[in-house]
Amino acid sequence: VVLVVDFGAQYAQLIARRVREARVYSEIVPSTMPVAEMLARNPRAIILSGGPSSVYAEGAPSLDRSLFEAGVPVFGMCYGFQLMATTLGGTVDDNGAREYGRTPLHVTKAGSTLFEGTPTEQPVWMSHGDACSAAPEGFTVTASTDVVPVAAFENDEKKLYGVQYHPEVLHSTHGQQVLEHFLYRGAGIEPNWTTTNVVEEQVALIREQVGDKRAICGLSGGVDSAVAAALVQKAVGSQLTCVYVDHGLMRKGETEQVEKDFVAATGAKLKVVDAEKRFLDALAGVSDPEEKRKIIGREFIRVFEQAQLEILQEEGPEVAFLVQGTLYPDVVESGGGTGTANIKSHHNVGGLPDDIEFQLVEPLRQLFKDEVRMVGQELGLPEEIVQRQPFPGPGLGIRIVGEVTKDRLDLLREADAIAREELTAAGLDRDIWQCPVVLLADVRSVGVQGDGRTYGHPIVLRPVSSEDAMTADWSRLPYDTLAKISTRITNEVADVNRVVLDVTSKPPGTIEWE
Ligand code: XMP
Repeated sequence: VVLVVDFGAQYAQLIARRVREARVYSEIVPSTMPVAEMLARNPRAIILSGGPSSVYAEGAPSLDRSLFEAGVPVFGMCYGFQLMATTLGGTVDDNGAREYGRTPLHVTKAGSTLFEGTPTEQPVWMSHGDACSAAPEGFTVTASTDVVPVAAFENDEKKLYGVQYHPEVLHSTHGQQVLEHFLYRGAGIEPNWTTTNVVEEQVALIREQVGDKRAICGLSGGVDSAVAAALVQKAVGSQLTCVYVDHGLMRKGETEQVEKDFVAATGAKLKVVDAEKRFLDALAGVSDPEEKRKIIGREFIRVFEQAQLEILQEEGPEVAFLVQGTLYPDVVESGGGTGTANIKSHHNVGGLPDDIEFQLVEPLRQLFKDEVRMVGQELGLPEEIVQRQPFPGPGLGIRIVGEVTKDRLDLLREADAIAREELTAAGLDRDIWQCPVVLLADVRSVGVQGDGRTYGHPIVLRPVSSEDAMTADWSRLPYDTLAKISTRITNEVADVNRVVLDVTSKPPGTIEWE
């Protein structure tokens, strides 16, 4: 493993991903972890991330010198670079040499371990106040900028390397190459971490964890639960039962996709619970978005637990595991970081016997989203499942502004299917993050169709581009595609006489309308 020590910047996750893109397995650890504990994990190399603070700021995170003396190759980036410099006796000062954003880097030692084969002038992404003016003893300065004399250094003998900039961001055009030089040349690591390894490793771990017991997995129709279930299925086969709750708020063809494609690809046992009536009854008369979300969440848990209970009755009490599609970013964000999950989840709500405890199986805990997709591909899941765009748990229930009824859902399903079809036909699926299609059920406007006046509802298209859904921008879709979607929706969907485009970024708008 390569450890990425997180100094509190948003860059640690990106660095970990870049290392994995170099086909080397990496994990993030907090900078508060004692050095002895880091070393106990036998890392092949350690990377120190950037961070928000100055090395001289009060309470700035520091590192024990022993980290640099353990013989483990270390690569410091930005804050990590400055920390390496000061800890080992170099000089970092606030000499006004601030640099933010794209900066030209001058490589002063061609053929160095990190810069071998890269241009002597290359753009890099900087973000720093303090600057290094003297490298520690034994280090060679390998690059500078117009204002920073020491922008990179290395001590090949001790396998210590550092750069002032952020090689992990795309604006540093040779950053990935520099990172790979560190991993392959500096640390001597073979690039052999692949999704095939992940599948093999996880299958073995799941077999060990589950043994001859049974497991249940809730399928949402999304990528994560599908891939998690497929992995467990591959590991323990018929010991797994999948549960899919059809709440009637799904898009056109979605339930069928789970029923057919998922089962065809994995051979998993699937229990589909048709709960449409129950959800629609519970939602009757409700327009408030938060109330809708609460009702859908509550009903979902009840139906899922009921299904679990039935499976327990059918299959016997040895059902002991609950499979979840938790991803690495969730683990890191909740402060988890290392180790495997063995959290007990008490499911004694809604009629389950008090003494039944599920243990969680979370085979995606170490993976980023794009890696989950690759694992899904490796497992033979169809493209439509693996490349699926995000879709909210409450489904179309939060895409009808106003009360949710069966008629309105059917109408929205038609409009949504047309929009998706045209976006796919135009080859735009990979360009957009997702495109909610929203029915303004409480709004009517006047139109004219044929020779007659209409008084129908508007449909809103909300195509967005995003990296993580935390922020988003509206997608500049080609007018021709928008025109086609608009024409088809107004022609083919009764009661819709207007299609409008949402041109709001997030913030201030959220991606969904409710
Ligand atoms: P917002 O609307 O908050 O959405 O900008 C951000 C992302 O989250 C999705 N979303 C949900 N996903 N359950 C989910 O599983 C939910 O309740 C939920 N609400 C929003 C949304 O589609 C977008 O990708």
